[in-house]
Formats: sequence, C-alpha cells, structure tokens
Amino acid sequence: MHYKLAFIGFGNVARSLARLLLRKQNVLKTKYDITFSVTGIATGRHGFAANPAGLDLLGCIEKVETGQSISPESRIPISDSLSVIQNSSADVMFENSPVNTATGQPAIDHVRAALEAGMHVSTANKGTVVHGYRELSALAKSKNKKFYFESTVLGGAPVFSVFRNAFPAADLLSFQGVLNSTTNIILSRMERGETFDQAVKYCQSIGIAETDPTNDVDGWDAAIKVAALVTVLMDTPFTPQQVDRKGIREITPEMIAQAKVEGRRYKLVCSAERVGSQIKARVAPELLPPSSPLYAMQDSTSGLSFCTDVLGDYSIMESEREGMTPGPEPTAYGLFADFINLVS
Ligand SMILES: NC(=O)c1ccc[n+]([C@@H]2O[C@H](COP(=O)([O-])OP(=O)(O)OC[C@H]3O[C@@H](n4cnc5c(N)ncnc54)[C@H](OP(=O)(O)O)[C@@H]3O)[C@@H](O)[C@H]2O)c1
Repeated sequence: MHYKLAFIGFGNVARSLARLLLRKQNVLKTKYDITFSVTGIATGRHGFAANPAGLDLLGCIEKVETGQSISPESRIPISDSLSVIQNSSADVMFENSPVNTATGQPAIDHVRAALEAGMHVSTANKGTVVHGYRELSALAKSKNKKFYFESTVLGGAPVFSVFRNAFPAADLLSFQGVLNSTTNIILSRMERGETFDQAVKYCQSIGIAETDPTNDVDGWDAAIKVAALVTVLMDTPFTPQQVDRKGIREITPEMIAQAKVEGRRYKLVCSAERVGSQIKARVAPELLPPSSPLYAMQDSTSGLSFCTDVLGDYSIMESEREGMTPGPEPTAYGLFADFINLVS
C-alpha cells in the first residue's frame, strides 16, 4: 500500500524522521508492504511546498539544511501550513512544529485540519496532547482515523502504545520517573565535579539545551510531560500549571557532594498519583537512595515506573547505546513506529 506523507514542521526531529524513513524503505516494503512519498512540507522560515505527485525529499532536506527555501519545489505557490495540509492529498500528517506550552497552538489547528481532511496524525508536539487530547482524539474517532503521539514522552521509547495495546482495562494509580534529560545530565555531571554553569554549557554544546535553559532547569518540560501522561493515561485533562513544580536551581555542588558521601543522589523526580477523585502531580528534586529504581538513571537515561490496579510496579527505561550522542533520532523513531501502527 502506498502512503502520501505531509510534514508540518521540518526541523531536527522531522528531518531525522525523513532520513529514517529513507533508511528503512526496504523493510517497510518487504515486511509491511508500505511504500511512501512525501507530498507536503511546511516550515517556519524555509518555505512551504506541496505536490501530490511527490516532492524530492532529499532535495528538501538539503535545502533546509543549507538555509534555502523549499517553496520553489511546490506545484502551486502556497504560503502557510494549513494550505500545505490541504494541497498535499496526504494520508498521514506528522506535526513537529515548536511546542507552545500555553495553548498548544498553532499545532492543534494543524492536527485538526489534517484529521478533518481524512489523514492519520502522529506528533512529537506535547502541546497538542495537553491542550487538545480529548477534542483531537474524538475528532479522529469520528473520522475513523488515528491521532498518535508516542514521541511526546520518553523520546521513542514506547509508553502510550504499551498502555493502548498491552494494558487493556487497567487503571493507572500512580507513576514516578525521570523525564527530562537536560536536568538529569546536569545533576550527573555536577556529581562528577562540574559546576551548574559548566554542565548547562555542555548540554548546550550537544544541542539538547536551549540558549535559555529555563524550560528544562525550572521543570516546565518535565511538567508538560507529566501533564500529558496524566491527561492520557489517567484520563484526566491536566495542564502543566496544575503540576506542583520546582526545578533544580537550588541544588548546590555542596548538597550534591554531601549526598554522594551518604550514598544518595538528587534526581528531578516527576510523579503523579490518584488520591480519591483528585490527581496530585509533582516535579521536584528528590534525594534518592540506591534502592530507588530511579537512582541508576544517570546522564541521558530516562524512565518511568507505573503502578496499576492489575500488576506490580512496571518500568520502562531508555538509555543511549555506548558511543551514541543524545539527539533527535529516538524521537524520530517514535514517530516512525507511530506511522506503522497508524496504518497497520
Ligand atoms: N528535539 C527533540 O529531541 C524532541 C524530543 C521530543 C519532542 N520534541 C518536539 O518535537 C517538535 C519539533 O522539535 P525539533 O527539535 O524538531 O524543533 P526544531 O528543530 O526547532 O524544528 C521546528 C520546525 O518547525 C518549523 N516551524 C516553526 N514554526 C512553524 C509553524 N508555525 N508552522 C509550521 N512549522 C513551523 C521550523 O521551521 P524553521 O526552522 O524554518 O523556522 C522547523 O522546521 C517540538 O514540538 C518539540 O517539542 C522534540
């Protein structure tokens, strides 16, 4: 079966997905009978292109990466993301524009338009989940389409699909995890003797922390992930603002050194639990003993432990292979896995 794909947002994650799709072309064909062409691409500053007959994907990647516009590739002149969706005739749309923590826009409009036009959607954009999950899921259902977002939490490691497929009718009672790589790398490097500023600079040098690291350091990225997990897996609409949130700025090298002497370490712990009819959710640094399942999650390792009404504790952990540097590839894999699951 042939699928036409539209990319709304063509940054690090989307281009990594495009490369993965090209690399896995053979297995898609032989094992899943899937072939694809890319028929729409929208960016912020690098133009817009749509052609139902197919765009030159490698050419578009090269243009964006050399600072050129992809607009000359378009069959007709278009100048916004919604027009790309409408003119792409795509079967699947990938939404990977920048996250808007406050409203989820314009990504929610992109997802809505794609579903209305009869496309499946996969996104790594957390804003669409915390601000639009119920509406977009209902819209997808009414159109007999799917809205998946595996990459929004824990990169490409399966979380939502595990609950969707392997935990039928289970109640999630609580979860606890390490969800933000930047803060975890900072705390791990401070434990090895670096200052906070040196560790932040390292994270910036490998491209995982922004110039202004507030979003990570003050716990906002972790809070939006907690809100996404509560919204979907505990079926309770929840915003990042409802998460009791504290970042890692107050953790000093002295506190970390003292914890090390005691055989303990600080982690930015993300948690939520059902208390009666309420959900209590929290992001805060905690001093953990070696017996905690989160203690061993150093550097860019992240993971979650879940407590359900049907099993004991269940954990998912993702760490990089030896020699692998942190980057968008695991997130791209989550979108790739969504693609196969959406159309299977
Ligand atoms: N990076 C990761 O490892 C990671 C992990 C999990 C989730 N995510 C999420 O994945 C999404 C993409 O992240 P990224 O790292 O790929 O970001 P990025 O490199 O900054 O790319 C963002 C892309 O969106 C485009 N864009 C900006 N405004 C747009 C608009 N209004 N409509 C359509 N496209 C627009 C940008 O175009 P220009 O470059 O031309 O401005 C760029 O192509 C974000 O929501 C992020 O939170 C990322």
